[in-house]
Amino acid sequence: MPLTPDFWLERWQKGDIGFHQAEGNDLLPRNWPSLNLAPGSAVFVPLCGKSHDMVWLAGNGHRVIGAELSPLAVDDFFREQGLEADTRSTGPFVVRTAGPFTIWCGDVFEMPADALSDVAAVYDRAALVALPPSLQQRYAKKLAEAVPASASILLVSLAYPDGQISGPPFSTPSEQVSALFGATHEIRVTDSRDRLEQSQNLKDRGVTSLEETAYVLKRKA
Ligand SMILES: C[S@@+](CC[C@H](N)C(=O)[O-])C[C@H]1O[C@@H](n2cnc3c(N)ncnc32)[C@H](O)[C@@H]1O
Repeated sequence: MPLTPDFWLERWQKGDIGFHQAEGNDLLPRNWPSLNLAPGSAVFVPLCGKSHDMVWLAGNGHRVIGAELSPLAVDDFFREQGLEADTRSTGPFVVRTAGPFTIWCGDVFEMPADALSDVAAVYDRAALVALPPSLQQRYAKKLAEAVPASASILLVSLAYPDGQISGPPFSTPSEQVSALFGATHEIRVTDSRDRLEQSQNLKDRGVTSLEETAYVLKRKA
């Protein structure tokens, strides 16, 4: 089932945001150092929601460029961080900036490549898995086209037994990560763990096992 933008806009309106982690995701601090990035470099966070991981990235010296459909999520992010954002419009986007954060509010597939031309890395947690398989292909292609070839990707993905629930999240096991990125990227698993006990919502929906895996993807020469 393709998910329309309205699906996500309504979830934010209803406060149905069980995916949001108030403390952020600890696979980020555990795995980020292996990317070896220069201080001050820019990180792209697609489908960023109001993720606290953006605060961690900024606290570790990065400029953060987010992309998010929901204006409510973007408002919440700046308000919760106590930041007053400058706002400008460009094409179909409203772009909000404060301190190290720039969030492009609109459809990630419309992001202009020049907005991402100095990105040193991509951080994806709950972005790829938020998309149905048909859009996952478009997303992988978009990343390959829009970020510099030198940019690594830290991907945090989820996998559960086939067909147990209809996504999101969409189960995205290593075979699917390979199918999406294997032609363009070297893929390394850097962390993997069972997360069922921490995911009551998915458990309640009928998921019986849940694996969360961190991958570092580097573009092939
Ligand atoms: C599962 S949430 C994950 C949010 C965030 N990465 C986190 O870890 O909390 C997916 C987010 O992607 C946003 N989204 C979905 N489709 C999008 C699109 N095409 N462009 C930009 N944002 C999108 C949704 O509004 C939602 O906030």
